[in-house]
Parts: sequence; structure tokens; C-alpha cells
Amino acid sequence: MIANILGMNFYELFIKNRKGFNQYQIPLYFCYMAKKKLVVLTGAGISAESGLKTFRDSDGLWNGYNIEDVATPRAWKKDPKLVLEFYNMRRKDVALAIPNNAHTILAELENDFDVHIITQNIDDLHERAGSTKICHLHGEIFKMRSETDEELIYEIREDILFGDTAADGRQLRPYIVWFEEPVPMIETAVEITRSAEIFLVIGTSLAVYPAAGLVNYAPWKIPKFIVDKRVPNTSSIYNLTAIEKPATEGIAVLREMLKKLTDV
Ligand code: APR
Repeated sequence: MIANILGMNFYELFIKNRKGFNQYQIPLYFCYMAKKKLVVLTGAGISAESGLKTFRDSDGLWNGYNIEDVATPRAWKKDPKLVLEFYNMRRKDVALAIPNNAHTILAELENDFDVHIITQNIDDLHERAGSTKICHLHGEIFKMRSETDEELIYEIREDILFGDTAADGRQLRPYIVWFEEPVPMIETAVEITRSAEIFLVIGTSLAVYPAAGLVNYAPWKIPKFIVDKRVPNTSSIYNLTAIEKPATEGIAVLREMLKKLTDV
């Protein structure tokens, strides 16, 4: 029973060998047993196998749209209806999508690691897969906000229409961080990354800052992994293992590699 609760290593050290611990060793042992902090930066590639388009692949969203027309404050000023239409479509796509095995495995890794997800994705597939600590850097598609007051935030499952207003009487807009806008969650993300013990990147081209720079805040020595169908240039990152596979396959490979790190 005790062995089940505390783990086999405890049984072997404490009961089987009958060596026991002194008052200093026991707390040290529990520190040793604490789950390692696994910080994961995800991008559109992790949701690709759920049927959601990435941005920069050949069939990506930015192939069919101009960023300047739909994802900037200027676009919102010029043609808010077009911007609303674009994100109303994204909301419909996400509502129809279901988490894939990569999302699910990340959620399952919480059994063995203290997993913190930092995602650039606006979908809710990490949440639906069961992950519990998720930081959305670029907003969330199932939320909307006043165009002037970024604190006035509401849930939204349907379309946002031109003329829909927040409590302050201003037009509602998607709760999305557009290009040229500040990224309010970046400081939180940097803090999380600084204390990582393992850092993992999945399905991002690392083309958009400040998100792409996060890996530079991860402690230099820690093990880092990247899973991507086409791994971007990461030659400057120390102690990085690249797994060039689609997310669902790559993360299964990675899970085996991570098992070895829990034994350390
Ligand atoms: N499995 C793993 N990786 C994949 C898969 C897949 N099935 N399909 C595509 N990829 C990879 C691509 O090789 C690429 O490296 O996912 C990455 C997608 O890159 P982008 O389209 O640039 O998406 P992302 O990095 O998330 O974009 C960052 O840019 O437009 C903005 O705000 C938007 O959050 C987004 C940000």
C-alpha cells in the first residue's frame, strides 16, 4: 500500500533494504520525486491532423488571405465585417474539429510531468484533450472583447456580428492578438519557460515573435525537443533533439524518450 502510494523506488530504498532515512533524507527524497516541469510551446502544426489549417504551409491560411486584410488593427479599422467573417469561419472550423492523439498524449503526460502548455493556437483542442495548464499567447477563438476595453471579455460560440456591442457600447471583436498588437501573455510565458526542466516545441514554424523567441529563455542546459513535419532552422538551440514527423507520430516517439528522463 505504502509502496503503491509513494512509488516503487521508495519501497526499494526504505522497506526492502531496511536502511531507512533520517529526518533530513525524507524531505530530500520527496523533492527528488517531484514531477519534472515540462514546458511545451505549440503552434498550428499540432492541430493540423485535427483538420485545422496551419498558416504558412502550402495550403495554409495565409495562402488564401492577406494578413494585412484580416489580422491587423488596420484591417479592423478598414473593414471590420471582413475581419469578423474571417474569424467567424475559424470559430466554425474549430467547433467541428476534435483533439488528435498529439493533444491527448500531452494531456496524459500530466501523470508523469508538471506539464505547462504555451500555445500560439486560438483553438481549444488542448483544453478538450484534458490539459490543465494552458497559456494562450495569441488569444482564443471562443472569446470576444470590446474593441476598446481589452478587459471586457465574453464567451462566444456563435458568430460575432457587426453591430454587436460590449457593456461599454463598443463593437465586439474577436479575442485575438493581431499582428502589430502587444502580446499580453508573453511575460507569463517567459516566466514559465525560465523554470522549465524540459522544453518541447511542437508544430510551429518559429516565424512569429515574441513566441518564437521563448526557447531562448529556457535554461541553456535542459533537454529540448522539437516535433514538426518539417523542422525549422533550430541550429542555435543547445541540447535539442529534432523529431521530424507529423505531430501524432512524433509525440509518440517523444513519449518514449521522455520516459527515460523520468528515471533520471
Ligand atoms: N505535424 C507537425 N507539424 C506540422 C504538421 C503536422 N501534421 N503540419 C504542419 N506542421 C508544421 C509546419 O511544418 C510548420 O513548421 O507546423 C508549422 C506551422 O507553422 P505556421 O503555419 O507558421 O504556424 P505557427 O507557427 O503556429 O504560426 C504562428 O502566426 O499567423 C500567426 O497568429 C498566428 O499563431 C500563429 C502564428
